[in-house]
Amino acid sequence: MSRRVHVLLAVLWSAAVVAALSAQAASPPDARIDDLIASMSVEEKLGQLQQLAGGAEGNYLPEQAELARKGLLGSVLNVRGAERVNTLQRMAMESRLKIPILFAFDVIHGYRTVFPIPLGESASWDPAAAERSAAIAAREAGAVGLKWTFAPMVDIARDPRWGRISEGAGEDTFLGIAFARARVRGFQGDDISRPDRVAACTKHFVGYGAAEGGRDYNTTDISEQVLREVYLPPFKAGIDAGAVTVMSAFNDLNGVPTSANPFTLTTILRGEWKFDGVVVSDYESVSQLVNHRIAAGDADAARQALTAGVDMEMVSRTYVTHGAELLKRGAWTMAQVDEAVRRILRLKTRLGLFERPYADPALEKTTLLTPEHARAAREIAARSMVLLKNEPGVLPLSKDTRSIAVIGPLGDDPVNMMGNWIGDGRKEDVVTLVAGLKAAAPAAHVTFAKGCDITGTSREGFDEAVRVARAADVVVLAIGEGEIMSGEAASRATLDLPGGQLDLVKAVVGAGRPVVAVLFNGRPLAIGDLVDAVPSVVEAWFPGTQGGAAISDVLFGDVNPGGKLPATFPRAVGQVPIYYNHKSSGRPAAPDNRYTSKYVDMPVTPLFPFGFGLSYTSFTVTDLQLSASTIRRDGQLRASVALRNTGPRAGDEVVQLYIQDVASSVTRPVRELRGFERVSLAPGASRRVEFLLTPAQLGFHNRDMQFVVEPGAFKVWVGTSSVGGLEGSFTVTE
Ligand code: NOJ
Repeated sequence: MSRRVHVLLAVLWSAAVVAALSAQAASPPDARIDDLIASMSVEEKLGQLQQLAGGAEGNYLPEQAELARKGLLGSVLNVRGAERVNTLQRMAMESRLKIPILFAFDVIHGYRTVFPIPLGESASWDPAAAERSAAIAAREAGAVGLKWTFAPMVDIARDPRWGRISEGAGEDTFLGIAFARARVRGFQGDDISRPDRVAACTKHFVGYGAAEGGRDYNTTDISEQVLREVYLPPFKAGIDAGAVTVMSAFNDLNGVPTSANPFTLTTILRGEWKFDGVVVSDYESVSQLVNHRIAAGDADAARQALTAGVDMEMVSRTYVTHGAELLKRGAWTMAQVDEAVRRILRLKTRLGLFERPYADPALEKTTLLTPEHARAAREIAARSMVLLKNEPGVLPLSKDTRSIAVIGPLGDDPVNMMGNWIGDGRKEDVVTLVAGLKAAAPAAHVTFAKGCDITGTSREGFDEAVRVARAADVVVLAIGEGEIMSGEAASRATLDLPGGQLDLVKAVVGAGRPVVAVLFNGRPLAIGDLVDAVPSVVEAWFPGTQGGAAISDVLFGDVNPGGKLPATFPRAVGQVPIYYNHKSSGRPAAPDNRYTSKYVDMPVTPLFPFGFGLSYTSFTVTDLQLSASTIRRDGQLRASVALRNTGPRAGDEVVQLYIQDVASSVTRPVRELRGFERVSLAPGASRRVEFLLTPAQLGFHNRDMQFVVEPGAFKVWVGTSSVGGLEGSFTVTE
């Protein structure tokens, strides 16, 4: 070949490369991804499917640096902090294919500014509050280099023994849908590539909250109808709101573990819902298929998980260890592997990671725990609180109160105030109850006696507690659970106040001062004895960084509590599972008939029903109007009521609409929430509150698993909890 031809070829070649490169830049993301996949080795592909855990303190491990340099690490969890993220990321960006690492972390209810636990936040019945806190959590997380949170948990939980009830929106699917949507929007916004947004992950897919006996990680057995009616809809809502990832769960579902379940992961998620995002396993849930005894070994576990639809493996390493061999023997196809890699690369593209792989260290310095974030944490915590009992004249407290005794193990405890899963929350940032009261009422003398430990049974501190109580005008009891008693691996077999706290309460009540109990807990508790013993009870959940300030706002009436329970409080653990939207039974409980569905030793009703919560003011709900008495199957109906604040203070009421399909081809719940709105009203003010009922809210899955609205009679109630309310009815025709 002549020199001239060489030169010509070189020119043509470089023109082709330039053309190819610019075509690559201009072509839709998938074409770029396909090109990338075409150039990847099997080892590099498997590396993308692997997520490893850095240290709990946020550092990466030496092996992870090694893998990053070789371009063999798809994602890490726990590694955070702009400098650390950037250092590890640089290694990946200097590897052969320059594929960025995706940094993930459990940002559940805040990163550095800690908000109330999700169950508490859901008690606000204000999805906008959840959207706001998730957006702030995303902003803080983004500032430390994170691009992916393992939240929201959208598992419906009807069993308060299950510690993870604290991480979700409680027992109801309709409420759960609203919060799933809001939290996904809050984390992701409109553009997940922005530095102040993170990818959301709806978890744990699916049915994890139905663990037998409320014991975490335990087996679940859920009919397809209940799965479709109760457990799946919040996931669908999260995905419809844009969630780009889903986490498969630990539980075995109807005989097939959820991390190897083709019915849920492929038929429903990919087939019916057209989800094109990433499915990540839960922590080692792929290798745990061996413990479930559905896989004969790790290779078999990998085969089943990827085939069922798990794209990325968290922490266990069955894919990277056995992938090549599975491909060789045809147990996996290259197309399957490529599809999983494609989804992961597509996520990284959507997150803008190829263009902007690095965090901005300057942002980290200015974004965490700003006064604006603290203000939001305080407002949202106050909105989350539920007034469970208030005898006249006790709450709100006067700021002129001369002395306040705070008594109980949670009174000055910055750690437990934050709850479980606290991101990078720090105790030094926390406003305890004692600190909050002192700041709110500087003229008051605020004293404190711990009385006992949370789970301790010693009465040694009781005398001092009683002495401190006697010396005060009013006593605020700070009692409940430790943060470690809820969340993952924190199931309880009892639901009482732990340790000797009830005895402390009784001793302190004996001092004869007005007593207010403030409860800190991650689940519904069986607290009938406490409620009988004291005149006022405020449910504060684990309220987060600004907890003490928010509680003070509520106790002094600067904020009138308006939260409502997102889960039923039982009288005793033996009633569990107990939830408002239960089925009717052929022999519904009747007081005068022994042979009905109830207990011989306890009423069948709960201590506090779903949707319950009091206020310092009073409201009336009157004049239920329905826009029609008959609608067609595909029609819709408006229901409205007049809400009036009849008391002396401004306040919030959550108006709730429930329906009942009177007779249908499969048994249906006695009532179901189908509308709610939290309304603020000045004293004496009134407003009409309107709800729209559409086929989506009237239908259900019939015996053939088709979603249908069946003709017939419906009842509707509008009120202020799941019990009672104004009743109306309408008919659906063909
Ligand atoms: C296990 C938990 O089940 C899951 O919710 C969490 O996201 C992962 N660990 C990662 O920490």
